[in-house]
Amino acid sequence: MRTRVLSAGSKKNILLAARLIRSGEVVAFPTETVYGLGADATNSVAVAKVFALKERPSFDPLIVHIASFDMLPAVVSSVPESAQRLMKAFWPGPLTLVMFKSEAIPDIVTAGLPTVAVRMPSNEVALALIRETGIPIAAPSANRFGRPSPTRAEHVLEDLGGKIALILDGGATQIGVESTVLDLTCSPPVILRPGGVSREVLEGVLGEVLLPSEADEGIVRSPGQMKQHYAPKARVLLFDGEPRGRAIAAIKAKVNELKGVARVGVMVPEEETCHFGGDVVVMSPGSYNELEAVASRLFETLRGFDRAGVDYILALAPPRKGIGLAIFDRLFKAAGSQVIRVNGT
Ligand code: TXA
Ligand code: MG
Repeated sequence: MRTRVLSAGSKKNILLAARLIRSGEVVAFPTETVYGLGADATNSVAVAKVFALKERPSFDPLIVHIASFDMLPAVVSSVPESAQRLMKAFWPGPLTLVMFKSEAIPDIVTAGLPTVAVRMPSNEVALALIRETGIPIAAPSANRFGRPSPTRAEHVLEDLGGKIALILDGGATQIGVESTVLDLTCSPPVILRPGGVSREVLEGVLGEVLLPSEADEGIVRSPGQMKQHYAPKARVLLFDGEPRGRAIAAIKAKVNELKGVARVGVMVPEEETCHFGGDVVVMSPGSYNELEAVASRLFETLRGFDRAGVDYILALAPPRKGIGLAIFDRLFKAAGSQVIRVNGT
């Protein structure tokens, strides 16, 4: 199949995408976080195509995207008071809420769970597409399963070119990491995936919010949150340390150890790139003093290392505050849920 990449700036192209989705096809489109691979959320045959195209396991549920509050009753069976407050504060925006599902959402969307994840994206193209389609759109990130999420149309083409009919090209996405997934079916609510809306900001509205490690141990609450995920082809080693100089020294030592044996990439903040040179492929997503900018370039940078053909990516962990928690989470998963702690931190 030839994959067409068409400008999302044209109304005609949005109408075409809406028509494709209504007829049971799958289309890639931009959101403010990452590109999504959308299908009619009420059509289980269409949703099955999304799983097949992504090579995504059927136990990993999808997020349902809506464009207006009117669409909510078609997706969830009831809306708790906490959800009302959150929607008012953060929708449209990068916050996904897990609530009990309505009958209209087929089991394949939620991987058989009684709950559904729903969000209203704050991206004009995504909103226009959902509005024109007139149906909630189920969409995971538009990458092949396990690959870094796409933040540009070219990334979608890299992973799914030849497999889908249409990619709406809306340029680089603004936020760059996926939405925060918050489970509202228990109290206090649990952050299943840190993302575009930070824990601190959520707590400002809700009071206490937990991370899975702080809630009941051992319960798999979000089947998609596997240990190995967001992985580039290279092996990722994540270094964390205090003060930062210690972690940089450990990265340097590892570079020396691997020199001549493997092609090495180093991902550090801008202000630390001066420590590396020679054969090492050094790429920076930006300054760790500007974590929003780092988030927006994170996946692009990881894909850049793949293009450079490195065997290893030695990465410095960002501070785990604000959106830094989401950046840390993606790097931690890319590293197979391991972190090399330098000097007891
Ligand atoms: O920013 C985003 O959220 C992007 C854009 C396209 O909206 N979407 C995205 O979808 O990242 P995906 O499929 O890559 O990640 C969805 C996450 C998975 O970790 C999945 O396990 C979780 O949401 N999830 C979905 N439904 C759930 C449910 N009912 N209960 C718990 N977790 C759920
Ligand atoms: Mg994903």
